[in-house]
Amino acid sequence: MNLGLADKHVLLTGASGGIGIVTASKLLDEGARVTGTYRSAKEQLNDLCSRWPDSFAARQMDQTEEKDVQEAFRQANETFGRIDVLVANAGIANHEGVAVQEMELKQWINTINVNLTGAFLSAKYFFRNLEEFPGKSASLILVGSTAGLFGEAWYADYSTSKAGMHGLMMSLKNEIGHLAKNGRVNLVNPGWTLTPMAEGALTDSALKKRILQTIPMRKTALPEDIAGAILYLASDELSGHISGQTITVAGGMEGRVLYTPGEIGDDS
Ligand SMILES: NC(=O)c1ccc[n+]([C@@H]2O[C@H](COP(=O)([O-])OP(=O)(O)OC[C@H]3O[C@@H](n4cnc5c(N)ncnc54)[C@H](OP(=O)(O)O)[C@@H]3O)[C@@H](O)[C@H]2O)c1
Repeated sequence: MNLGLADKHVLLTGASGGIGIVTASKLLDEGARVTGTYRSAKEQLNDLCSRWPDSFAARQMDQTEEKDVQEAFRQANETFGRIDVLVANAGIANHEGVAVQEMELKQWINTINVNLTGAFLSAKYFFRNLEEFPGKSASLILVGSTAGLFGEAWYADYSTSKAGMHGLMMSLKNEIGHLAKNGRVNLVNPGWTLTPMAEGALTDSALKKRILQTIPMRKTALPEDIAGAILYLASDELSGHISGQTITVAGGMEGRVLYTPGEIGDDS
């Protein structure tokens, strides 16, 4: 099926990460031109750069630095022209959970800054690009997390940063139409997905069992599962009348197992 992505210019943040690489590769297979950003791991993008020299460009940016984001978007416009689709995918999560009463303010601010303020900055320069290059179609896809839906004990910074994506989406879906008549803004919430971000947890067999107890399909996602939802929302052919919606890609996950049987106690 033709997704209508041929020659669309997609700017994908966090392209050097687990979900990013697979998403970039699928977009390129569909004929899109892709600007993929990385913060530090440029080598992860070498293969895409050599396989797609005319349609893939890697750009460095730290999305907490406005000047980096502005420069990455400027270079992207210069290389491939109007950016039709932004996938705001870059993000961080601390490997070790921390109880809120122990959480350093520095950690809280950093997580909110990278995940939520970083997505805002990318959206800001995406909208500037739409203002500069008028056109009918545009799609912004934010990448949140099931942690933003259900919360996540010991990761209050991360879950709050991802819950904020909902507010960003609901506001920007009403702004984008002023710049691109058929512009759309949607949110993809991955659940546990096998990437460098989650592999520590997913290789701990006891923790993995607790995770699988919350998922009807009894499996975690592969990056391909998340990329599929992103391509669907990028494609006007498939989702051209869908805006302000969340697709949760988590095998039907409903929440979390909070206690092991031993932790329930006798007085319940
Ligand atoms: N994996 C999961 O289980 C899971 C679940 C729910 C949601 N998610 C979300 O899915 C998205 C992608 O996650 P992933 O699993 O692919 O993670 P990943 O493999 O750790 O990749 C994270 C990406 O974000 C980039 N990044 C980190 N800090 C940045 C910064 N300050 N500025 C710009 N880029 C930065 C990294 O760049 P460098 O590597 O070049 O430094 C990398 O490309 C994230 O938003 C994450 O929160 C993941």
